[in-house]
This record gives sequence, C-alpha cells and structure tokens, in this order.
Amino acid sequence: MIDNKKVLFSGMQATGNLTLGNYLGALKNWVKLSDEYECFYSVVDLHSITVRQDPAEFRQKAKNLLALYIAAGLDPEKNCIYYQSHVSGHAELSWILSCFTYMGELNRMTQFKDKSAKHADNINAGLFTYPVLMAADILLYQTDVVPVGIDQLQHLELTRDIAQRFNSVYGDVFTIPEPFIGKTGAKIMSLQDPSKKMSKSDENPNASIYLTDDRDTIIRKFKRAVTDSMAQVKHNEEQPGVSNLIEIYSACTGKSFEDVEKEFDGKGYGDFKLAVGETVADILAPLQSRHADILKDKAYLDGIVKNNAEKAQYFSNKTLRKVQKKVGFNEKIR
Ligand code: TRP
Repeated sequence: MIDNKKVLFSGMQATGNLTLGNYLGALKNWVKLSDEYECFYSVVDLHSITVRQDPAEFRQKAKNLLALYIAAGLDPEKNCIYYQSHVSGHAELSWILSCFTYMGELNRMTQFKDKSAKHADNINAGLFTYPVLMAADILLYQTDVVPVGIDQLQHLELTRDIAQRFNSVYGDVFTIPEPFIGKTGAKIMSLQDPSKKMSKSDENPNASIYLTDDRDTIIRKFKRAVTDSMAQVKHNEEQPGVSNLIEIYSACTGKSFEDVEKEFDGKGYGDFKLAVGETVADILAPLQSRHADILKDKAYLDGIVKNNAEKAQYFSNKTLRKVQKKVGFNEKIR
C-alpha cells in the first residue's frame, strides 16, 4: 500500500515497433487502472539486452515507448513512468532472488524455450534468468496487482513462488502479487493469421497495425485483413478473422459485440473493414500527434524521467534495504 492505494506494476519492452495490440491490449487498460492504483509503469530496458540491440536504435525506441506511455494518457505526475535501468534496485534484488530460484523452475519456462530456439546462436544466461529479473521488478515495489498478457502468466506464477519461498524463510517481506488480465482487448490477433497474436515482431507488415502507421496504411491493412466466405459480421469461433475485427472495433468504440453485429447486419465485409480502419485511424491520429509533441519537448521529458526515477528509487530502496538486512548483509555506514 502507498497512501492507502494498492500498488500496481507493469512493464513493456522497447523492441520492435509497437502495435495496436500493445495499445488496445495493454496501454488502454493501464490508463483505466491508473486512478484506482498507485502505478509503476516501467520501460524494462534491462530485459531487452537478453537479445542483441543496436545501441542508438535501442535508446531511441526506449524513449519512444516512454513517451507513448504519456501520450496514451498516463499522467506522469501520478504514475511512476521510468526506465528500469535508472533504478539500481532491480538488478540488485534480481541477484538475491536468483539465489532463491531453482534451475528446474527456470528450465520449465516456455518463453525461455521459445526464445532460445529463436536465438540459438545467443542463449545467454540473461535469457535464462529473465524471469528472476521480472520477479525483482514486481516484488521491489510490494506490488499487489500486475496487469499482464496470458503469455506472461507463467512468469508471474514463478514470481509468487519465489516470494512465498523467501517469506517462508524470513517472514513477511514481500507482498504476494496477483495477475490482472483485462477483459476487452486482451488478445488482438494478427490481421493475416487470426490464430496468432498481433505481434511487434511479426515479419509480415500487413499482419500488424503499428502505432506509427498513417491513415492510408491503416485503412489499406484492414482492407487486406483475412476474413472468410461466410459473408456475415458475426462474433463466433468459425469466423476468427471477422471476430478479431469485431473485437478491435468494440475495443475502440466501447460498443458490445452484439451492437457491432447489429450495426453491420446485412452489410458486406468491405464496408465493415473500412469502418474498422477509419475508427482505428481516428483513435491513433491524436495519439500520434501527442506523442510527437512530447518527444519534441526535451526539457519536459527529461524532467519526468529524472523525477520518476527518483521516486522509483525511493520506494524500491525501502524493500531492498529490508531484504538485505533479512539475508544478513552488514548495514552500510551512511
Ligand atoms: N516480460 C514482460 C513482457 O515481455 C515485460 C516485463 C518485465 C514485465 N518485467 C515485468 C511485465 C514486470 C509485468 C511486470 O511482456
């Protein structure tokens, strides 16, 4: 608890281009949750170097992502928006927690298996201990809730196990976090293969709507979206492509699936796709212009980065000091 509010932590990586899936599936929900919780939203750059990054490009992408958090509507005065690498406690706690995590547990992580298959030439120890760093992120702030995608649930489960293990040895040091899975927009699928999640690393550019796409590109990509030959705008399992478009439209407009079905009853896919494309373009345009404005204002952005890193450092230090004391490190002379 901070000021009687429950604590929320989440983070995103600044690799690849951000997509509509990131916005509707994650950021939009983060904004909704930000009134109710004391929120820490990190750009988790330490995690990103488990895969090789071009330094200049990486620096810019991380900055773009941080600015996007703000452009999406997260007030940086109320929410702690910061680069993970600016707060030393993440790496420090991660080391301690790694001594409370078993090789067998990390070996079971499906994301490690997937990523090591994908980066067979660089299966580094960081890729393996990635979930421990994620546990440190969360536990460092005595987090109550963690909004995550389903693909991260296994990591969160491990976080809880590590925290419980530590607490059973040293007493109640860590709050045990709960996952928070948003209802709408939790899974925006690829426009080219609706059985796959819309991903920032998809090789087919038509599969994803990027947050930087202009209006014409967005409308064109929706025109090309894979549907079916059933010629009805209905949300059901036999029509995954159309259902995905309904979900996107519903997430953008707030209309229920039934209302969307009614709205397009008797209309062709052409009309429907155009409406979805235009709606998405209308939502992204103001987001893009706010984003550009924020990035232009260096003094403003620098101020936010500095203040929020200090705030995160302050809260994380409280937990870190406690942990250091519990495990038996000698106190630093200050
Ligand atoms: N591993 C998460 C992802 O790739 C990002 C992440 C890092 C995260 N630390 C976190 C998410 C802590 C939630 C909480 O999506």
